[in-house]
Amino acid sequence: MNLRLIALPLIATLCATVAAQSSSTVAAKSDSTHITPNGYTQKWWKEAVVYQIYPRSFKDSNGDGIGDLPGITSKLDYLQALGVNVIWLSPHFDSPNADNGYDIRDYRKVMKEFGTMADFDAMLKGIKQRHMKLIIDLVVNHTSDEHRWFVASSGSKDNPYRDYYIWRPGKTGPDGKEQPPNNDPSFFFGSAWQKDPATNEYYLHYFAVKQPDLNWDNPKVRNEVYDLMKFWLDKGVDGFRMDVIPLISKDQTFPELTPDQLKHVDEVYAHGPHRDEYLQEMNRNVMAKYDVMTVGEALGISLDETPLLVDERRHELNMIFNFAAVRINRDGKQWLPWTLPGLKAVYDRQDAALDVHSWNTVFLSNHDNPRLVSSFGDDSPPYRDASAKLLATMLFTLKGTPFVYQGDELAMTNYPFQRMEDFDDIEAKNGYKADVLTGKVSEADYIANLRKTGRDNARTPMQWDGSPNGGFTIGPKPWLAVNPNYKKINAKEELANPDSVYHYYQKMIALRSKSPALIYGDYKDLDPENPNIFAYTRILGNEKYLIVLNFSGNATSYTLPDGLRAGSLKVSNLGSTGQQTTTLNLKPWEARVYKQ
Ligand code: NOJ
Repeated sequence: MNLRLIALPLIATLCATVAAQSSSTVAAKSDSTHITPNGYTQKWWKEAVVYQIYPRSFKDSNGDGIGDLPGITSKLDYLQALGVNVIWLSPHFDSPNADNGYDIRDYRKVMKEFGTMADFDAMLKGIKQRHMKLIIDLVVNHTSDEHRWFVASSGSKDNPYRDYYIWRPGKTGPDGKEQPPNNDPSFFFGSAWQKDPATNEYYLHYFAVKQPDLNWDNPKVRNEVYDLMKFWLDKGVDGFRMDVIPLISKDQTFPELTPDQLKHVDEVYAHGPHRDEYLQEMNRNVMAKYDVMTVGEALGISLDETPLLVDERRHELNMIFNFAAVRINRDGKQWLPWTLPGLKAVYDRQDAALDVHSWNTVFLSNHDNPRLVSSFGDDSPPYRDASAKLLATMLFTLKGTPFVYQGDELAMTNYPFQRMEDFDDIEAKNGYKADVLTGKVSEADYIANLRKTGRDNARTPMQWDGSPNGGFTIGPKPWLAVNPNYKKINAKEELANPDSVYHYYQKMIALRSKSPALIYGDYKDLDPENPNIFAYTRILGNEKYLIVLNFSGNATSYTLPDGLRAGSLKVSNLGSTGQQTTTLNLKPWEARVYKQ
């Protein structure tokens, strides 16, 4: 049992009931008595600001063009100075990289391109020394087809690992020819079944052919997973981001999906019969024994269903990523214009769906989505900085644990993709085969859509300085091209400019960290229908904040609703200072935070 001591910085100010132990530190599971005035149980992971590192693209230390763990260690001071206190590391495990590490060959080994276990330990030590925490990616819906379990499983029908995966014989179609067991599609195009010549049966893969799905109905598989989780927790990691976790339980009768089900297959896959049972078992076997943070990637779970996975009384996960907000600009994989009332409706609904027993995440970017400022702000030169700062204001003042994706603190932008050769992502390449080579979509339209939606937008290397390849690598060639705007947009420039996006992130993170109302306070959207202004309050006891965001490139005069008066201006992303109480003259993309 690993009961680490956890600092809860806000406890002293917020405690309604003080537990028997010290007021500044509490042992795991003993902090349940710290309740905010509006009823939330205080937890370190609710007060955290998380920074996601995609290791392949963060910092290369040895010149092979691929980011690595020593590279991360060399940038820990940068992260600490930013003010984030939890790092989420995308997969760092041994992998043949069909899906950049989301296809794991050995859960207990470090990917050789990223370094060694000693490098991992040194990184973890550096993180702890800086009073930060580390959560790692738990990818256990599937493994790599090169994992030793799958190699054994596919070898014969009667080997002890056969049941670690999901195998079915094909069936005879109306034309008398053999077909896959059912019409389940893969998220990466084509059928979710792959025939394996060794035994003439099909295995299930919801993602790439090289990512066979584990059979969670086999208790041995579940115990293997719990053991590997303990392996990393015992090393000192502080929790997990769980990849596509609602998908672990399958309806193993595999009925044919109806045309309607095929339109929202994520929802179908996320509603297997034993999902909650397995998560509760995992919680009992692992999470309950440590003081950890868990966040599930909740593909296919609606906003209203969120409490099923995160209500603390159900003992499953702490939080989930719901995609309603980040995917508001897409229909499936196709880019769609989004509206501010639509985005506000997601946040309002999310808030209504969760009570004090459930906690939320706030994020609008990650390694699977395009760049924050390009998607939700305006990345053209006049407004890139202002809109990136406005988005940061929103992310750090909404209710829920905020997640920053690497480079968003520099307002890094989407990449100007021109040709298919510019892409690395398996999803982009498979889509090209499925949609362009079959003549369904023109190549130009396909690339134009990927320019706005493609995952590689977020995966181009971090831009550290104006030297060749943005200072990401000293080698001749990074694994994916650096955005050509690196000479202008890079960390060195941002650090040198006191008015930069990086320093604004720093300021907002600091403000959030010391303001209980911005963490736990009640949220109210003041003007849900307004097409350009997002105005909301966060209130906790006597502490009240008003946040006003002008989501447009137009200056506007905004009269606060319900006779509300603005209070004292704590932050303006554009340096406004004037006293304005009921009518605010907002500049394009201006964000203001008032304390009332
Ligand atoms: C979700 C991950 O975020 C994504 O990058 C990956 O391709 C799929 N899961 C499959 O693991």
